[in-house]
Amino acid sequence: MELLRPSHRLDFTPGRRILGTVAERGCGSCWTRSESVHVDRSVPLNLRRHFDNIAEAYYQIVDRIWYDVGYYHKREGEFLREQLSQPLNLALDAGCGPGRHLLTLLERAHVVIAIDFSRQMLSKARDAIPPHRRGRIHFVQADVRRIPLRMGVTDLVINIEVLEHLPGGLADARSTLAEFRRVLKSHGSLVIEAPLERHRRWDHIWSKPASYKELTEEEKTRYYEKFPLTVEHLFLDEDLDSLLERAGFLIETKRYVRFFPAGLIERHPSLELVDKVIERVPFLNRVCREAMWYMRVNLRRSRKPFAWAH
Ligand SMILES: C[S@@+](CC[C@H](N)C(=O)[O-])C[C@H]1O[C@@H](n2cnc3c(N)ncnc32)[C@H](O)[C@@H]1O
Repeated sequence: MELLRPSHRLDFTPGRRILGTVAERGCGSCWTRSESVHVDRSVPLNLRRHFDNIAEAYYQIVDRIWYDVGYYHKREGEFLREQLSQPLNLALDAGCGPGRHLLTLLERAHVVIAIDFSRQMLSKARDAIPPHRRGRIHFVQADVRRIPLRMGVTDLVINIEVLEHLPGGLADARSTLAEFRRVLKSHGSLVIEAPLERHRRWDHIWSKPASYKELTEEEKTRYYEKFPLTVEHLFLDEDLDSLLERAGFLIETKRYVRFFPAGLIERHPSLELVDKVIERVPFLNRVCREAMWYMRVNLRRSRKPFAWAH
């Protein structure tokens, strides 16, 4: 089976490794390559274990926490749908997880490529797509820091809730944004989300953390203690603004989400309305928990091939 149509062919140059692909086969979740595919040593194993482990239960667990992660997921989905008004040829979901945004992308794009380094996440994502639509989507196990696609092939890249997990912090964010720019066409656009550093300080002032009372003890042990989730970096939004600009993007829309800490909203749900107002207030909104950006490629900035250290 040819993995992608010729115009979207994967890039097999050294350094951009495909760790595996999920194929449509009789057995349901077979892989086109063997279990022993080479996994790049720079791929953080612990993090991959966490996401492999939580893949099966991801949405049932995280979306249940309405005052925290469930809330962000809802807002991210709304933001993405608002930005996608034009039909697209090819869209890339870089760090697709269990495929939350893939149906939205399939509504707009002729072909979708879903990349994740967790095989279990890719399997879940594939299972979530109705069989009659799977012909337009390709699941590729790869590292978003080294996207195995040729230069200038995609119309849209989305990267939601992934940057904070890259092991190299700002340096990895910088090189990954350069990768997005490299694979985008000149009229292409990028949607990203990142959690903000300032919110953590605000969390400290409000000393009661969210209780996660929706999780059972068994779920906490199984999904968070056995293989803990690591968040390597929280961002200052102006740092990302400048990285995006230097990577060759023009910011068109930026939205902040959630001013109050999750624990406060959990205890006083009526604050949610106030929160939505404060999210729009300049300066105050920079204490929000996350920001989302919609950008276009900046044609004035030339595309410089990015080189990484091996
Ligand atoms: C919090 S989930 C978000 C999933 C999805 N984007 C969403 O919004 O629901 C983060 C995902 O990024 C993937 N991921 C993290 N670092 C990655 C990397 N370097 N390369 C590829 N995938 C990565 C994880 O396996 C996980 O599926």
